[in-house]
Amino acid sequence: MKILVVGNGGREHTLAWKLANDSTKPEIFCTPGNAGTAALGTNLSYSATDIDGIKQWCIENQPGLVVIGPEAPLCAGMADVLEAEGFRVFGPNQAAAELEGSKQFAKEIMKAGGVPTSAYEAFTDPDLACEYVQKRGVPIVIKADGLAAGKGVTVAETVEQAEAAIRDALDGNAFGEAGNRVVIEDFLVGEEASILALIDGDHVVMLASSQDHKRIFEKDKGPNTGGMGAYSPASIITESVLEKIKTEVYDRTLAELKKRGIVFKGVLYAGLMIEKGRPSVVEFNCRFGDPETQVVLARWDGDMLPAINAVIDGTLSDDLIQWKPEHSVCVVMVAGGYPGDYAKGNEIQNLDKANAVDDTMVFHAGTALSKDQIVTAGGRVLGITSLGKDLPDALSKAYIAVETISFTGAFYRNDIAHRELRRLEND
Ligand code: GLY
Repeated sequence: MKILVVGNGGREHTLAWKLANDSTKPEIFCTPGNAGTAALGTNLSYSATDIDGIKQWCIENQPGLVVIGPEAPLCAGMADVLEAEGFRVFGPNQAAAELEGSKQFAKEIMKAGGVPTSAYEAFTDPDLACEYVQKRGVPIVIKADGLAAGKGVTVAETVEQAEAAIRDALDGNAFGEAGNRVVIEDFLVGEEASILALIDGDHVVMLASSQDHKRIFEKDKGPNTGGMGAYSPASIITESVLEKIKTEVYDRTLAELKKRGIVFKGVLYAGLMIEKGRPSVVEFNCRFGDPETQVVLARWDGDMLPAINAVIDGTLSDDLIQWKPEHSVCVVMVAGGYPGDYAKGNEIQNLDKANAVDDTMVFHAGTALSKDQIVTAGGRVLGITSLGKDLPDALSKAYIAVETISFTGAFYRNDIAHRELRRLEND
């Protein structure tokens, strides 16, 4: 069977890797893919948002499955278009993807459904938004309503910062249309963690827990990035927290969507703040997380295709997924300067040596083939992912592999999983 994976990041390389290793041995295509996916199958030249081009390719090549990785094509309705042509698609339709496409919509669903999350208001008028901030106080969170490629969130420590973020979005057009409305939320206290859940419209199966590291520098300093590393499992998500996430977050969200006639099929990522054993939703994403996918799929034991098919067919059940007992870690290597300006086209050395480290997979993100060389082609370049008998073992393998790789300007955090390590020390 032919499988098309749409996207070109670390998440898509990981999905393509997992699917390529399925016991049914499918033929893998990625569009546009990266140098990592090129080694697993065939890269196509359509951008991830070229719905017409991808539809045409599907009509001509009849893939048995299309897996849509990023939020932009999902929010633009790629799943709807391909399903209307009769293709089997993994990824929510446009109405369901609105949970990520509009922060206001997500908040409205959570409020109506009784899902724990912070108080909020949405504004298109900057003066009213600034008045609200003055009334509410700081710290406070200002979010562009639409998709802003991970850049639309400001955690304001002062009223001045909040007002600047509001005016940048509403008056300054900093995020284009995505910033024509802002959602202003109370700041949540606690520790963040992620849960990804497969949903077939009715049934929810939560995947292994993980924790991302969003800031560029160690000790969680500096600007936000797409994610500098992750580990799984995250012990902040205890059994009792997990139960609350299932009943209070997923079941209530699904019930509210259903009331409105919206069917969610695919993966729903809940970014959560955990405080005193209680989860609150920070954000929903309508797709797998990156780099959460790397650490979660590294621990997935056996084939993933039966679960993907069950999501599409509405037959999802817990017994389709088993987890390896090992712990996993992903350390992201980025191009110097990221998340600001960075260079592209730098040759990457020793990828084979890093891949040869025990229980280690080098997932590509911003890489490309140039002549016969693999070169940097994005801000996040690689996600070095290792399994270990425990967290220190996984970390040690991942950092051995990271230190093996070199490219001009390479940068990574040395403290991935620092919170979990501290918990281990205190136990
Ligand atoms: N790791 C953050 C995200 O995927 O949005």
